[in-house]
Amino acid sequence: MDLCIIGSGYVGLVSGACFAEVGHHVVCVDNDQRKVDMLQAGQIPIYEPGLEDMVHRNVASKRLRFTNSIEDGVDNSQVIFIAVPTPPQADGGVDLTYIERVAREIAGVLKPNQYRVVVDKSTVPVKTGEKVAETIRRYNKQAEFDVVSNPEFLREGCAVPDLMAPDRIVIGSAAQAATDLMKRVYEPFQAPILVTDVNSAELIKHAANSFLSLKISYINAVSAICEATGADVEMVASGIGMDKRIGRNFLNAGLGYGGSCFPKDVKAFIAIARQLGTPFHLLEEVEQINARQLNRFIDKVRDALWVLKEKRIAVWGLTFKPDTDDVRNSVAIDLVNRLVAEGAHVTAYDPKGAEKAVDWKLIDPAKVKLTSSPLEAVEGAEALILATEWKEFANQDFPEVKKRMHTPMIFDGRNLFDPNTMREMGFTYYAVGRSRPNAAS
Ligand code: UGA
Repeated sequence: MDLCIIGSGYVGLVSGACFAEVGHHVVCVDNDQRKVDMLQAGQIPIYEPGLEDMVHRNVASKRLRFTNSIEDGVDNSQVIFIAVPTPPQADGGVDLTYIERVAREIAGVLKPNQYRVVVDKSTVPVKTGEKVAETIRRYNKQAEFDVVSNPEFLREGCAVPDLMAPDRIVIGSAAQAATDLMKRVYEPFQAPILVTDVNSAELIKHAANSFLSLKISYINAVSAICEATGADVEMVASGIGMDKRIGRNFLNAGLGYGGSCFPKDVKAFIAIARQLGTPFHLLEEVEQINARQLNRFIDKVRDALWVLKEKRIAVWGLTFKPDTDDVRNSVAIDLVNRLVAEGAHVTAYDPKGAEKAVDWKLIDPAKVKLTSSPLEAVEGAEALILATEWKEFANQDFPEVKKRMHTPMIFDGRNLFDPNTMREMGFTYYAVGRSRPNAAS
């Protein structure tokens, strides 16, 4: 099939590559000429395992191409996916100006007698599909089209496998012709397909992300009780997760959730519920637990070091999760900036995220020393904080780490290390929701 994807960010670019990989002809449209130039030159603007090879392979076989022309995309495709950003507004609501603009642009180039399915893949508030349809109709009376909601559930860092083998595909559609075309698009993926109305599909995305955030906040709240009682949150998570109705996934206690989706989507769902007159207070607590989790962690560091001012602290990890270069809304970055604000001398290392953290002005390189290896970061440090659980951090030469540190003290914000091993090696080791150093000895 001939498909067009408008927006070449994480969702648009990975979807485009995966659609091409299963045999469709895909044109990716972006209004950022610099990005289009890069992609046309074979450079991938984001880091996502497996993506680069997949893009090169499909460009070479002429199933994937890039352009800045919406007209080119719409003219040559049966199905047009919208995958543009839907950033948060100051009041927690969702800024839909990019979606609205794309709807007008599509309306401007749709020709009469040229049936098209316009698919919203971006995360949007319920009832956005209705607005997109109204907008296209307002600017083009002759257009023949249907609007479908097809939320994307990929996770950054494993976007390619998530897209190639999804748990489910949700198609929110009111028109049989559009549903049939969408089923053909997804047939090669051999995944379960759920067909719903448009509003339900839009709600599924916000409800799913909010539920996953709730799971994380739940276990983080339990971790505080574990710390107060000497219980071990990892054991509690395993014990409750063995119940199939609950499941062990997304019950990892840590510094809290971050990234470009959960914080924004929980806020948006709260705002949507409020606007509809059906307030969702449970989600407000989810947010508060998330904020408290970082506060509690910083308190723990402060308790151990007494005063943070002038302390040399090494931080491993800046991205909001491992296997990505994305540092948007990263709790690790918040942590670094709060330590700096208290006067600590922070040295940080991240395998992929440091460049974007500086480019996007999320950290000030004049205040945070960035290193090119984890060992360099711990040189002379009075404490090491593990903020993102990259696998390479688990495989360090810890005797060497200890030798280089001023004081062998580790605060593990993601429960990556084994407490007994760390303590046997002579570290004073703190984790989240697990016994304190003195309790273990
Ligand atoms: C999330 C959802 O998992 C995807 O299904 C969804 O498509 C995506 O948002 C989106 O809306 O686009 P993503 O933000 O890429 O994906 O990353 P996650 O793996 O969900 O992690 C989000 C945050 O939760 C990270 O900061 C991670 O460290 C944290 N987390 C995750 C925990 O603290 N504990 C856990 O057990 C799991």
